[in-house]
Amino acid sequence: MRALVTGAAGQVAKAWIAAAPPTWTVTALSRLELDIGDEAAVQAAVERARPDVVLNAAAFTAVDLAESDADAAWRVNRDGAGHLARAAAHLGARMVQLSTDFVFDGLSGEPYAPGATTAPLNVYGASKLGGETAVLEAAPGALIVRTAWVYSGHGANFLTRMLGLMAKGGEVRVVCDQIGCPTSAATLAAALWRLIGREARGVMHFTDAGVASWYDFAQAIGEEAFALGLLRGQPKVLPISARDLPTAARRPAFSVLDKTLTWAILEGPPRHWRAALRDVLATMNSGAG
Ligand SMILES: NC(=O)c1ccc[n+]([C@@H]2O[C@H](COP(=O)([O-])OP(=O)(O)OC[C@H]3O[C@@H](n4cnc5c(N)ncnc54)[C@H](OP(=O)(O)O)[C@@H]3O)[C@@H](O)[C@H]2O)c1
Repeated sequence: MRALVTGAAGQVAKAWIAAAPPTWTVTALSRLELDIGDEAAVQAAVERARPDVVLNAAAFTAVDLAESDADAAWRVNRDGAGHLARAAAHLGARMVQLSTDFVFDGLSGEPYAPGATTAPLNVYGASKLGGETAVLEAAPGALIVRTAWVYSGHGANFLTRMLGLMAKGGEVRVVCDQIGCPTSAATLAAALWRLIGREARGVMHFTDAGVASWYDFAQAIGEEAFALGLLRGQPKVLPISARDLPTAARRPAFSVLDKTLTWAILEGPPRHWRAALRDVLATMNSGAG
């Protein structure tokens, strides 16, 4: 079987490529090799690779920058996703699109089901929602997986940023009134392969199990990294309100996703986010991450 993945230098794409089952051949195209906003280039790349599955892991993910560069965000997150879905559908390939908890406004007190009302608070979320619509219009059998708070041991993400700050010593102030689900790129990648194997379609939610604030996540990073010897001292993490950390983009205060449907297909929940975090840190500690 053949797969094509876009945004191949990103953290989710890298984890997905690393987790590819041996029976799959993956063509991995980074932004430099394929700009998904270029429709003709997308068509040519998909025709060349003749994939059975296309995973779109490319996205404009700079949430705050998207507020001032909305055209760029829409071009990649909506238009690029649509170009890929059309090219995939034309060849009879299955389209898999990644989306985000930021399609919700965070005002709910309970986890968001895939069919819950969407109401993005920022340009990034709106453009990703536009991507979902564009994909489903072009390829009604597509699989759309919304995920959240993704991190890995390399690249720029919350884990690597926190470790950098904590290594400098001193206090680290982290928002305690935004609640979500930290998700390891590795667990997400494994789940995506299993969903593909089960020919899942429609909108699904996947994150690691459990719930946390950014403060809880940072505190756990500090404790686990110190225990593993990745940090010389136990860092001091202080909770602050999102009000005290103004950002260009508004973010949902509560974006826990309801994963009941996905977990039924996967025959059980993934591990708790803290266990997944421990694994990622252990891999970094061994030098393999
Ligand atoms: N990270 C999270 O917390 C999170 C949460 C929910 C959903 N998601 C979704 O998960 C998916 C993967 O995200 P990620 O965490 O792996 O993000 P990432 O590490 O930022 O990777 C995204 C990749 O897309 C590339 N890209 C940007 N514009 C492109 C274009 N026009 N054509 C082709 N590639 C382009 C980027 O390249 P450059 O770096 O060179 O620009 C980058 O390598 C995205 O759909 C994202 O919306 C992520």
